[in-house]
Amino acid sequence: MKKNIGNKFAFYPTPVIVAGAFVEGKPDFTLVAHIGIVSHDAAMISLNRSHYINGGIKERKALSVNVVDESWLSKAALAGSVSGRNADKSSLFEYSLGETGVPLIKEAKLAMECAVLDVYEIGGFENFVVKVVNTFAEESILTDQGDRPDYRKFKPVLFEMPGYTFLKTGETLGECKTFLKK
Ligand SMILES: Cc1cc2nc3c(=O)[nH]c(=O)nc-3n(C[C@H](O)[C@H](O)[C@H](O)COP(=O)(O)O)c2cc1C
Repeated sequence: MKKNIGNKFAFYPTPVIVAGAFVEGKPDFTLVAHIGIVSHDAAMISLNRSHYINGGIKERKALSVNVVDESWLSKAALAGSVSGRNADKSSLFEYSLGETGVPLIKEAKLAMECAVLDVYEIGGFENFVVKVVNTFAEESILTDQGDRPDYRKFKPVLFEMPGYTFLKTGETLGECKTFLKK
């Protein structure tokens, strides 16, 4: 029997990314778990408007989205525990520059540079609607064809807010078409 547990926000787990942008001439890196797809080619990155990184994203209308896996989770978590307003996070990661000038974290096996299309404000959050400009992936996490990430090889870290816990993606169940009824 199901129990009504109230209006609990049960959209978790969500993938964890580190957003990167230049703020006042230095890179800032911020952990973000509230991200989502809003169309076939747009996604939303939800940032509290008090965060230091927001100013840099708005100034350049771009940010990097560095997908976190277990290999660099501790450093990624650090980017979520201190604000660039109080501590310099610019040397936390080695980075390269994308064509939009955003810092792309070298440790991230999968990273996108994204352009901001719009900002939707709600409840103290600035929600950046973005499109992908370039995607950089380690060859070791790509399919045999080499044209897309293989999520059997690459396991993004996930986050669930109610238990404040990290998870990672699990086993592959099979291609969708094998589950679709005729
Ligand atoms: C697991 C985890 C997930 C987080 N997810 C978000 C998020 O989705 N949105 C957000 O605004 N802040 C999120 N934060 C908080 C920011 O990462 C944190 O406040 C950071 O220090 C802000 O850095 P900044 O001021 O340099 O931008 C998260 C923190 C943790 C530890």
